[in-house]
Amino acid sequence: MKLKNALLSATVLAACMFGSASAAELVVGFSQIGSESGWRAAETTVTKQEAEKRGVDLKFSDAQQKQENQIKALRSFVAQGVNAIFLAPVVETGWDDVLKEAKEAEIPVILLDRTIKAPDDLYLTAVTSDQVHEGKVAGEWLVKNAGDKKCNIVELQGTTGSSPAIARKKGFEVALAGHDNFKIVRSQTGDFTRAKGKEVMESFLKAENGGKDICALYAHNDDMAVGGIQAIKEAGLKPGKDILVVSIDAVPDIFQAMAAGEANATVELTPNMAGPAFDVLDAYLTDKKEPPKWIQTESKLYTPADDPMKVYEAKKGLGY
Ligand code: AHR
Repeated sequence: MKLKNALLSATVLAACMFGSASAAELVVGFSQIGSESGWRAAETTVTKQEAEKRGVDLKFSDAQQKQENQIKALRSFVAQGVNAIFLAPVVETGWDDVLKEAKEAEIPVILLDRTIKAPDDLYLTAVTSDQVHEGKVAGEWLVKNAGDKKCNIVELQGTTGSSPAIARKKGFEVALAGHDNFKIVRSQTGDFTRAKGKEVMESFLKAENGGKDICALYAHNDDMAVGGIQAIKEAGLKPGKDILVVSIDAVPDIFQAMAAGEANATVELTPNMAGPAFDVLDAYLTDKKEPPKWIQTESKLYTPADDPMKVYEAKKGLGY
């Protein structure tokens, strides 16, 4: 296998450089954000599976949502002399210094699933979706399906300062522009978690006439949507009917909600960011082939017309 050979040359090289690395394995440090959502847990599972399949020694570090923990993990990977680093960055800013340290140590860094604001020579590539597009697809679905009536929307945002929270908000607003009957009346972070999504949705419902003045919920991920659905039901309303529900990720649970008529649309985000990342790393270490700065993953819209229970079953095998 190509990556194994690349490993050999990279680790033989590393052995020469660092004196002690085993010639059998490529060592990749993976700084993961945490386990805030079903999607995130699946990304972790898939990354570990992809590493195992390719014979890579993956050093996994869970940052528990804290950038400072990610920075510490990256410094520790550099000190250990890993061959490459995968970074799923919790927020967009504040990475320059640590990425410069990795660059000085000649350790390529690949960003997974979120983007950062930093000079692009500080990382090898970013494997992400087009997060503005995801928000736009969600917004366009709503504009097309909510009709011409006045539609008050509540928005559950992702983690403050994270690229998906910023971009998904932007894309959604682009889709609503020029459609004056649509208005975002409340917007707050639910931190990408189910529990916070429910809690914030409860406050939205209270503030908006028990939910009677809300036409739609837009959640930046499915977990918050599932929490929101629970809150809507507890308020005595019907999610998916009284309040339309549109979100992003396409995790199995949202398809169960869709099958029950409680969710209306989701935009898929693949949890397999690691597969493309290992492929370009392989080409880079083997042939010094520079990848493009952005490797874009697909964003597909799913609605109840897509046989939700069938999709649910199919998804279960994919790291969920
Ligand atoms: O960065 C991707 C986002 O992070 C996912 O949409 C969300 O579920 C996760 O927490």
